[in-house]
Amino acid sequence: MEKIISLIEKEMEEAFEKAGYDKSYAKVTLSNRPDLCEYQCNGAMAGAKAYRKAPIAIAQDVAANLSAKSCIKEAEAVKPGFINIRLKESFAADYLNEMNEDEALGLTKADAPKMIIVDYGGPNVAKPLHVGHLRSAIIGESLKRVARAMGHKVLGDIHLGDWGYQMGLIITELRCRQPELPYFDDSFEGEYPEEAPFTISELEEMYPAASSRAKEDEDYREQALNATCLLQNGHRGYTAVWNHIMAVSVADLKKNYESLGVSFDLWKGEADAQRYIPDMLKRLKEEGHARVDDGALVIDVQEETDTKEVPPCMIQKSDGASLYGTTDLATLVQREQDYHPDEIIYVVDKRQELHFEQVFRAAKKAGIVREEMKLYFLGFGTMNGKDGKPFKTREGGVMRLESLIADIGEEMYKKITDNRTVSEENAARTAQIVGMSAIKYGDLSNQASKDYVFDVDRFTSFEGNTGPYILYTIVRIKSILNKYRENGGSLEGIKMEGARSESEKALMLEAAKYNEVIQAAFEDLAPHKICAYIYDLANVFNRFYHETKILAEEDGVRKKSYIALLVLTKKVLEASIVLLGFEAPERM
Ligand code: ARG
Repeated sequence: MEKIISLIEKEMEEAFEKAGYDKSYAKVTLSNRPDLCEYQCNGAMAGAKAYRKAPIAIAQDVAANLSAKSCIKEAEAVKPGFINIRLKESFAADYLNEMNEDEALGLTKADAPKMIIVDYGGPNVAKPLHVGHLRSAIIGESLKRVARAMGHKVLGDIHLGDWGYQMGLIITELRCRQPELPYFDDSFEGEYPEEAPFTISELEEMYPAASSRAKEDEDYREQALNATCLLQNGHRGYTAVWNHIMAVSVADLKKNYESLGVSFDLWKGEADAQRYIPDMLKRLKEEGHARVDDGALVIDVQEETDTKEVPPCMIQKSDGASLYGTTDLATLVQREQDYHPDEIIYVVDKRQELHFEQVFRAAKKAGIVREEMKLYFLGFGTMNGKDGKPFKTREGGVMRLESLIADIGEEMYKKITDNRTVSEENAARTAQIVGMSAIKYGDLSNQASKDYVFDVDRFTSFEGNTGPYILYTIVRIKSILNKYRENGGSLEGIKMEGARSESEKALMLEAAKYNEVIQAAFEDLAPHKICAYIYDLANVFNRFYHETKILAEEDGVRKKSYIALLVLTKKVLEASIVLLGFEAPERM
């Protein structure tokens, strides 16, 4: 459906043109005096200079020339030159009835669907997920869902950190602990065991142990570097260990992401990109995109317009080793070849911004991707504790994602069972659902690039700008609708009529913004806009609810109109939280 504001703007444009003014002045916004009118246009003020006329005179001309009138009932010029726009009573109601009948709630899909890859998650195998990975997963998942709702073809790629030195470390540690394993016997020619020689908890313990030992023990470090190099050159036994690490780690990651409601279409990783590297380097050298600098291979990416230095993108170290940038460039080679995407969105910690700037520039410059391919870096800020420092456990350690989810679930469980609104068996499940909303909404309601404070008390509160408050509002609507049905009411074929009260009108106009908000959230890669919207919507709904006797309304037509508005409000809230990546319980 066309955005409600565009429909109004069109009528104003006509009026501006008829009155002899340029239609670009016809910009309409929601009124900041909702008691006087629903929308306003300040174009007469903006045009005063160009037309050398008093704004009020222009406003009067425009108001006098308003004729289309399918949505606007009246436009009034008021001093010093505002145009107050009052809508026809039935207009918003008709618009909302149409939304109510549309499965997509009036969301306008893109005319030309794009192929978009979202690179998010980015966990490193063999290391537990921590809260840093939480942000990437939550934001990326939401962007993926929003882009899909807009009609685009979207692939979410987890881009595993599954290559490099960390793998050499684990192999070395395993070798120290169990030297008798066949992977370490170069004369072994038989089949390697199918079962991994470690569990996920052992793996997660081995990695940090190896990592700290390598920092103190030079010889051990050498071994790990050597193991990395052998693995990269296809060493048979080490490749088998690598496969075990992958299998054990990926199974655990899948479980964790599933509990977060996050899913990926592609489980590719840095390792998958490796086979594209030799050809890519060869071509970059031959075509003169790369140059040798102190034995290393680099691509210059500084541009004339830069105000600060952007160092060259290094793609091969002097010892021949590849780097993070090499892998990201090779991944682009692979993505271009396999998916030919129109856009790739990287959801990564903002501290990696320079790395991506270098990679993007190098990829364009060297023709690894087409000139018209859009590469976006959505860098997110740090999730801090109340002390303003990166979020930690009470003991000061790195907070594992699992523990965070469990802690919030417990907190929610306490609250829910205190309220006694839910039966014991449902309480645990409800606590999980509501807890997830607390975490995700708490994160997504902030502009992604900003650092934010993860405040457990605030995020789990049923009041204020929180996920649980949104869910509480949805549950409240569900319960009214249930009562309505229990009393014999039917939801079939009911329609909204023009609003009779301020709060009803406010709710209607807010619900009508859905289309506009989702589109903006997609265009600006900004899920926080959806949060801000549903918080406003929940607030106007709750005001309407407190001021209106809905089920006790005696006028049958009026009552049905209220119910239809509730149905739509619920659908808009539910569709919005799905786009944010969480759901609502039946009761709470
Ligand atoms: N594994 C990386 C990290 O933990 C993030 C990967 C981001 N994606 C990418 N294409 N580089 O920092």
